[in-house]
Amino acid sequence: MSKLTNRYAVVTGAAKGIGRAIAERFLADDVAGVALFDMDEALVQQTALELDPTGERVIAIKCNVADQENVNAAMATVTEKFGRIDILVNNAGITRDAMFHKMTDAQARMVLDVNFYGTFYCCQAVIAGMREREYGKIINISSTSAFGNIGQTNYAASKAAIDGFTRTLALESARKNITVNSIAPGMIETDILKTIPEDIMKTKIANVPANRLGQPSEIASVASFLASDDSSWVTGNTILACGGLKMRG
Ligand SMILES: NC(=O)c1ccc[n+]([C@@H]2O[C@H](COP(=O)([O-])OP(=O)(O)OC[C@H]3O[C@@H](n4cnc5c(N)ncnc54)[C@H](O)[C@@H]3O)[C@@H](O)[C@H]2O)c1
Repeated sequence: MSKLTNRYAVVTGAAKGIGRAIAERFLADDVAGVALFDMDEALVQQTALELDPTGERVIAIKCNVADQENVNAAMATVTEKFGRIDILVNNAGITRDAMFHKMTDAQARMVLDVNFYGTFYCCQAVIAGMREREYGKIINISSTSAFGNIGQTNYAASKAAIDGFTRTLALESARKNITVNSIAPGMIETDILKTIPEDIMKTKIANVPANRLGQPSEIASVASFLASDDSSWVTGNTILACGGLKMRG
């Protein structure tokens, strides 16, 4: 028996970056099956093939998490294939940065739609089954930006919303043996950071006590803990995984 033997998982935004690393780690933990959801159909198919060339344990599904009908259909496909969903990782997320005085309504809504409503819709699609079976592990990917970050009023609001949602769903679900936690990564080396200008990146890295960027695998290891029964007494938490960044405010 390994950490996730006999468990079935869904990871959203899993075509690349942190989501892909989480799916890869779950496979190493002997997960019975993992469904990769992503908007980018070609990339998610390619990722699935790279992670499991046999296609026995990995399925790729094109899904826009901001669209509730799309989410419900994708979850139904997973349930049909796997029989149930034990672990849900709400990882899909976007940024549309701008100073608040220049931010448009569209930028704000797009980020809330994907980051917050995506999480909300995915949880709503799986929670009834988890309650019925009295087992579930929900992991929401937040961000250190939830504490505040210049140029990210929209993103910070979406991630702070996820943290409040996480604690409340944890309270409502605890009696049903479902744990709900979030992870707040900071400065992980993925494509999402590519929109940040180089000079600002240098300053940001210098501000990390570890003096480097984090790797997606360093978030995946936290997700692995929260997805396993090692974390059975851990619920309603936001785990900071940021190389000590938040100690500097
Ligand atoms: N990289 C960091 O430093 C960092 C820090 C804090 C939090 N995060 C969070 O981690 C999560 C993953 O980010 P990443 O750095 O791996 O980013 P990434 O851009 O490398 O990957 C994000 C993935 O999500 C997918 N996606 C975007 N919108 C989607 C939608 N509507 N439906 C389904 N899939 C969608 C993308 O196609 C992509 O494959 C995000 O929630 C992000 O906010 C990242």
